[in-house]
Amino acid sequence: MSDPAQLWGGRFTERPHETFAEFNDSFRFDRRLFTADVRSSMAHANGLANAGVITRAEADAMIGGLSQMLIDAENDHEYFGSGSEDVHSFIESKLVGAIGDTGRKLQTGRSRNDQVATAFRLWLRGEIDMIGSLIRELQAAILDTAIGYADAVMPGYTHLQRAQPILFAHWCLAYYEMLGRDRERLADCRRRVNVMPLGSGALAGTGYDIDRGSVAAELGFETISANSLDGVSDRDFAVEFASGCSLLMVHLSRLAEDLILYCSQEFGFITLGDSVSSGSSLMPQKKNPDALELLRGKAGRVIGHNVALLTTIKGLPLAYNKDLQEDKEAIFDCADTAAISLKAAAIVIENLVVNVDAAREAATGGYLNATEFADYLVRRGVPFRTAHEAVGRAVLYALEAKRELGDLSLEELRQFSDKVDEDVYGALTLEATLASKSAVGGTAPVRVAEALAAARAELAGKGEK
Ligand code: ARG
Repeated sequence: MSDPAQLWGGRFTERPHETFAEFNDSFRFDRRLFTADVRSSMAHANGLANAGVITRAEADAMIGGLSQMLIDAENDHEYFGSGSEDVHSFIESKLVGAIGDTGRKLQTGRSRNDQVATAFRLWLRGEIDMIGSLIRELQAAILDTAIGYADAVMPGYTHLQRAQPILFAHWCLAYYEMLGRDRERLADCRRRVNVMPLGSGALAGTGYDIDRGSVAAELGFETISANSLDGVSDRDFAVEFASGCSLLMVHLSRLAEDLILYCSQEFGFITLGDSVSSGSSLMPQKKNPDALELLRGKAGRVIGHNVALLTTIKGLPLAYNKDLQEDKEAIFDCADTAAISLKAAAIVIENLVVNVDAAREAATGGYLNATEFADYLVRRGVPFRTAHEAVGRAVLYALEAKRELGDLSLEELRQFSDKVDEDVYGALTLEATLASKSAVGGTAPVRVAEALAAARAELAGKGEK
């Protein structure tokens, strides 16, 4: 019963049923951990040699064979083939094929349980770094677009009703902030990913005197897991990553939804680039925001992976259970979906045109200066609630007359408060309304200019956030 690619044949008298093999095998997806698992195998070989469990020459033979595998995998498209149970058995059998019986010593003091957790973490650490850079690139694209339209004004909304005018750049910066937090969250998750479980063995720890700290250092792990049962069973790090990706995708989805609205004929504030839109097979006039709709839609699948992982883990007894193999595809897809979504969002942002006049027009009418009118009265000593009431009545009057507040005569305005003077017209302009929101974090042009400069400095690495 000795299939060299199988790690556990000795106790068995029958071969795995082909349906079971198909069900059980993970090689078709976990081959993605190949490089990470080879690297961690090299470090393990060093750990074994340093502990005197194998000779230096044996470790060198293993490391030589393993490095050659990295090169072969790179150059040979057929390298992986099929038929292995998982990436770990694939690597071991390739190694034995290349260097003979010495390769059969590699699994000394190690189990696939601590091995898979180690390779998965190594791989994920790299993905987090890649996603972190993609978030920065999207932030940079958002910032460039904001700066390119620094004076553009549009309505801001609550309840999807026009509320108060804002700068387009202020809207951009809102997403810049969300993405900054997403980056921080993933960076924080990375600290807990960067812990090495190798040396936990199957569950109880390893029986060899391996210096886990130096193995960890060789692999760039910040630290080692403190408990072997936890080391092989913990997938918190994967859940945290899926959750960080979920929130990132939720932010991209909201960005997409805003832009889908803004590019509709009903809003008309932006026009999407042709290169990121698609047409209809039936209606010749259509230009559809498919890239944005996919951003919105893909949030659902990442959130699904997050929930699936939590559900998989919740009832598991300690320590390792095969259920945990389900973590891979979920996390691979979270990483892939987050990465392509970030790239897609960046090209949409880079290719959009703001229809400055239409957006400004929408921000000009419709009583978006009503709060400003109330604030004007407050500055003249009227309690805010009284001012709110008075302006509400003025809006009702103007609505019936089909006129804007600024078009009412002084006499008409004074019906609502005797505190109104000629200077009210200056206070009700779009410019004055924007400029008045001058507390830090507001949409006043001076504040937005500062925020843009701060964001630019941050992305250039000057400010840390
Ligand atoms: N393919 C397995 C996984 O992804 C590797 C660990 C297998 N361990 C075991 N005891 N069968 O979880």
